[in-house]
Amino acid sequence: MIPLTHPTVQRLLAIMDQKHHWAYPALTRPGLTRKQLLVHFQHEYATYVRDFPVLLARALGQVPDLPDVRRALAENLYEEQTGGLSKSAPHPELFLRMMEGLGFSRDDFEESALDRDLHEAAASYKQWLRARSVESPWQAAVALLTIFVEGSVNERAELEGSYVRRRGEDAVKHHALVVHYGCPPSAMQLVRAHGDVEGGHRGDAWRIVLDHTKDETIAKIVVETCMDALARWQRYRDGVAARLGIERDHSLTAAPPVVAATR
Ligand SMILES: [Fe+2]
Repeated sequence: MIPLTHPTVQRLLAIMDQKHHWAYPALTRPGLTRKQLLVHFQHEYATYVRDFPVLLARALGQVPDLPDVRRALAENLYEEQTGGLSKSAPHPELFLRMMEGLGFSRDDFEESALDRDLHEAAASYKQWLRARSVESPWQAAVALLTIFVEGSVNERAELEGSYVRRRGEDAVKHHALVVHYGCPPSAMQLVRAHGDVEGGHRGDAWRIVLDHTKDETIAKIVVETCMDALARWQRYRDGVAARLGIERDHSLTAAPPVVAATR
C-alpha cells in the first residue's frame, strides 16, 4: 500500500491531478478529422512514445547499486522495448500497429520528417525529457518517467482503489478509437499490453519514490522536476491543440488549479 498522506506522495498526486488538458475531451469523442487525428498521434509518437524505452534506459544508467530499483526499471524497459512480459511486441511498434488500424501508414511516422515538423512546444518538451533523464539526482529522472510520463490524471483514484482501469478486451471495446474512429480491435494490442503489465509498474514507480526520497533535498527536486514537467506538458498539449485548430471554450473549461506549494 502506498500511504497517500506521505508528504512527497501528496505533492506528486497534486501534480498528477492536473495532468489533464482542456482539449482532451475533444480527442475522445467523435468529430475529429483524419488529419487532426494524425497530427495528434504524430506528436504523441515523436514526443515520447517512440523513445520512451530509451529514456528509461538513460535513467536506469544513472541508478547506483540498488538492485531492487535497477531490477524494476530493467523489467519496465524490457517490456517497453520488447513486449516480452505481455508476450506482444515493443510498445512503439504496437503504437504504429494501432495507427495502421486507423488507416495511417508507417511513412506518416518516419522519424526525421516527424521531428522536423513538431510544434516547438513538443520539441522542447521532448528535448527536456531526454536531457533530464540523465541528470542527477537519479530519483528525479525516475519519478519524471515512471510517475509523470507513464502515469495519468487517474493516479490518485487508482492508488485509493476508487478507480479501476479497464483491462483486456473490455478496455479495447470501450476505447474511443474503436468506438468512434473505426479502429479494429485487433489493432489495439497496445491497450491490451498496458492492461496486462502496467499495474505492476505503477506500484514499482511509487515504491521507488517512497523508499529513496527520504532526503528532503532529493524529495524537493523530485517534486520540482515533476512540476516543471507538468508546465511543459501543458504547453506541449496547448501546442498540439493549436495545430489541430481546437479552440478553448472558456465558458466550459476552468483554469487549472495551482500546484500545492513545495517547501
Ligand atoms: Fe508502454
